[in-house]
Amino acid sequence: MEITFDILRRKSADEKPYIQTVTIERGRCATVAEALDIINTEKLIDDPVQWERSCKQKKCGACAMLIYGRPRLACDARLDEFPRGRIKLEPLKKFPCVRDLMVDRGVIFANLMKLGSWLDENAACDDTGVAYDASKCLQCGCCLEVCPNFYSGGEFFGASALTASSRLIGETPAELGKRLYGEYNGHFFRGCGKSLSCKDICPAGIDTERLMVRSNAAAVWKRKKRS
Ligand code: SF4
Ligand code: SF4
Ligand code: FES
Repeated sequence: MEITFDILRRKSADEKPYIQTVTIERGRCATVAEALDIINTEKLIDDPVQWERSCKQKKCGACAMLIYGRPRLACDARLDEFPRGRIKLEPLKKFPCVRDLMVDRGVIFANLMKLGSWLDENAACDDTGVAYDASKCLQCGCCLEVCPNFYSGGEFFGASALTASSRLIGETPAELGKRLYGEYNGHFFRGCGKSLSCKDICPAGIDTERLMVRSNAAAVWKRKKRS
C-alpha cells in the first residue's frame, strides 16, 4: 500500500505557493517525519522539502506543521491514522513562512522575553504539579495556530505564554508576584476569550484550562479581593 503527500511548497515567503505531490510505500515509515526524511534523503523529489526537526521524539516542538489541516508535530503524526492514504502538509499559518514547511516562530520567544517570566527575589514554591505540567511546554506554536485571539505582533501572547507564567504565578507569594501578575494580566488574561481551542490541541498534553484557572485565581481574582 502507498501513501500520498500533497506538500505546500514555496521557495521564499514572497513566492506563490504550489502543491507538490509525492507517493511512498506505507510500510517504510511510521510517521510523517520519517516519511519527509525518506522523501528528502532518497531524492524522491528534485528539490528537498525544507522543514524543521531535531529530536524526532516529541521533545523539541520544531516539527510543528499543519497535517491534514490540523497543527501537529510531524514526529507524532502516525501514518496509520490516515487510512485514506492521502495527507496534505502545510506550514503553520500564524507565523511567517521561511520556505516550504519551515516558519519563523521567533515571535514566541520574543514574547517570552517581553513577558519577563522570572522572579526578582527568591521564593519557596509549593509543588502542586501545575508548575511541572506547565514546564512540559515545547513552545511549538500549535496552540497559537488555533487560537482565535493570537496574532503575531499583538499584545496577547496566547497559551505558550500562559505556560511560562503558570510555572511561577500559582506558586509565588503575593508580595513577590506583583510584576508577574501585571505581565500575566496584560499579555494573557485580558486578551484570552476562554474559547479553550488550545486545550485539546497541545501535543504535550498540557491542560491549559487548569493552568488558566489557577493563574487567574492567583493573579487576578484573589488579588482583586485583597485590594
Ligand atoms: S502549550 Fe502545548 S501547543 Fe502550546 S506551545 Fe506549549 S506545547 Fe505547544
Ligand atoms: S482559551 Fe482560547 S483565546 Fe485563550 S489562549 Fe486558549 S485558544 Fe486562545
Ligand atoms: S522533531 Fe522534535 S518534536 Fe518533532
